[in-house]
Formats: sequence, C-alpha cells, structure tokens
Amino acid sequence: MARYGLIGRSLGHSRSPELFADLFAREGVSDARYDLFELDAVDRLPALIGAHPDLRGLNVTIPYKQTVIPFLHALSTEASAVGAVNSIRITGDRWTGHNTDIDGFRALLTPHLRTLTEQAGQVRPRALVLGSGGSSRAVAYVLREHGLRFRAVSRSRERGDLTWGQVDRTVIGVCRLIINTTPLGMWPEVHEAPALPYDALTERHHLIDLVYNPEETEFMRRGRDAGAVVENGLVMLKRQAEAAWQFWMGG
Ligand SMILES: NC(=O)c1ccc[n+]([C@@H]2O[C@H](COP(=O)([O-])OP(=O)(O)OC[C@H]3O[C@@H](n4cnc5c(N)ncnc54)[C@H](OP(=O)(O)O)[C@@H]3O)[C@@H](O)[C@H]2O)c1
Repeated sequence: MARYGLIGRSLGHSRSPELFADLFAREGVSDARYDLFELDAVDRLPALIGAHPDLRGLNVTIPYKQTVIPFLHALSTEASAVGAVNSIRITGDRWTGHNTDIDGFRALLTPHLRTLTEQAGQVRPRALVLGSGGSSRAVAYVLREHGLRFRAVSRSRERGDLTWGQVDRTVIGVCRLIINTTPLGMWPEVHEAPALPYDALTERHHLIDLVYNPEETEFMRRGRDAGAVVENGLVMLKRQAEAAWQFWMGG
C-alpha cells in the first residue's frame, strides 16, 4: 500500500482526501491511501516521512509552501521559478518539490482568456492580482507565460505594485481580469471580500477567485451583481491534484 497525503495547518476542511479518493477510483488504483498530516511546525517533516516509510508523495498547503523548500533535495523548474512548493515526490531518501498550482491556474484561466482576448481584439487584456502570497506567484508565472501585463495589490507597498487604497475606478476600468489570491471570503469568514470599487465592474470583466469554499464567494457575488463573469477555484483545485498525481508517478 502506497501512502500519500497533505501537510499544513488547520486541515479539517480540506477537500483533498475526497479529490484523491475520486482520482484513485478513476485511475483504478486500489492500493493507495491519502491522509491529512497536521504539522505544527515545518521542521517536523523529516520525522513525519521517517515515521511513514510507505509515503510516496505529499501535497503542501498554508503555511508551508515556501518554508518547506530548505528541507527538500531538489526542485522542479516551476517550483524554483515560483519559489513555492505544493507537491513533494518521495523517492527513497530523495524529496523533490514541484508546483502544480501553475497547472491548476493555467486550466482555470484558459477559457476566460479566450473570451477576454476576443473582446479586446489586438489589445492584450490587463490583469489585477489581489494578494502577494504563495498562490499569487503561481498566478503571476502563468500571466507572464501568456505575455499579460498585470499589477499586484498588497497591504504592503514593498510586496505589491498598488496598495488597496490605490485601486480606484480607473484601475478597475483598465484591468478586465481580476484574480483574488487572498483568503478573504473563505469559509468561515464568508462575508469578507477584497475592498474594491465593485460598482466600476461591467459585463466585460472577469473575476476569478482562487477560493472555492464557499462555492460563490462574496467577491464573486458582488461581481455577478455588476454583470461580470465570475468563477471560483474549483477547476484549479482539481487540476493541481491531477498534476500532483502525475508528478508522483514520475511524470
Ligand atoms: N483553488 C486552488 O487550487 C487554490 C490553490 C492555492 C491557494 N488557494 C486559495 O488561495 C488563497 C491564498 O492562498 P495562498 O497560499 O496564496 O496564501 P498566502 O500565501 O497566505 O497568501 C495570501 C495573501 O493574501 C493577502 N492577504 C492575506 N490576508 C489578507 C487580508 N486580511 N486582507 C488583504 N489581503 C490579505 C496577503 O498579501 P499581502 O501581505 O501582500 O497583503 C497574503 O500574502 C487561500 O484561500 C487558498 O485556499 C486555492
């Protein structure tokens, strides 16, 4: 029996066990299990792997996507470029980090980009990325891949191009694609939303929320009320899990 799992903190509401149970069933894998490993500090990782010699792969979530890197023996090109790891392949005593949030966000973005590009003609749509944490780096990587210009919004002047107070109607008018990479609005704080001038949104805007719980976040609801196209992070979640499985299998 091969074991896989998720490391992080506060994992009680993770959807990963359910996602991997579906994936194992689809792939006809009957000799694998997926567990949640709550870690109170990332330096417990070597002891965890030592205690479970059947571990073949791990996913990594908040707050360890960056701090796990010094414990690994190798990084994929994507993980190095983004500076964050959400999947670890365990081959004997060699642990390799990879970032499959990139694959996940590519899958989520593609249909929106098609519509936005059709609407904009020759002009490449501009994006606004809310937040500057681990997932925003994967988002930025994919936006750059597509040659899209974007600005990042942060609470800190140092980490972003704009602070929240600078996001006015003009910025919203220019940026047709808005991606929420903050946890604002995630269960149980479902009434929170990024502070934006929502009344400046139009039906030509696309709002993507990486949050998927609840299914419709307050950010999405306000966008939908203004006529914008909205989507949550479920497609990304599913795709990043499939990509993690391929990586663990040596792909
Ligand atoms: N759908 C998926 O597959 C998927 C994948 C990855 C992540 N996610 C979701 O995306 C969210 C972020 O994940 P992450 O790993 O990037 O987390 P993270 O590393 O903690 O980054 C979140 C960023 O959001 C900003 N932020 C945090 N609290 C805020 C607040 N109260 N007000 C304004 N900004 C705030 C911060 O940026 P500043 O400090 O610069 O302000 C922070 O760096 C989570 O809800 C996670 O569940 C979903």
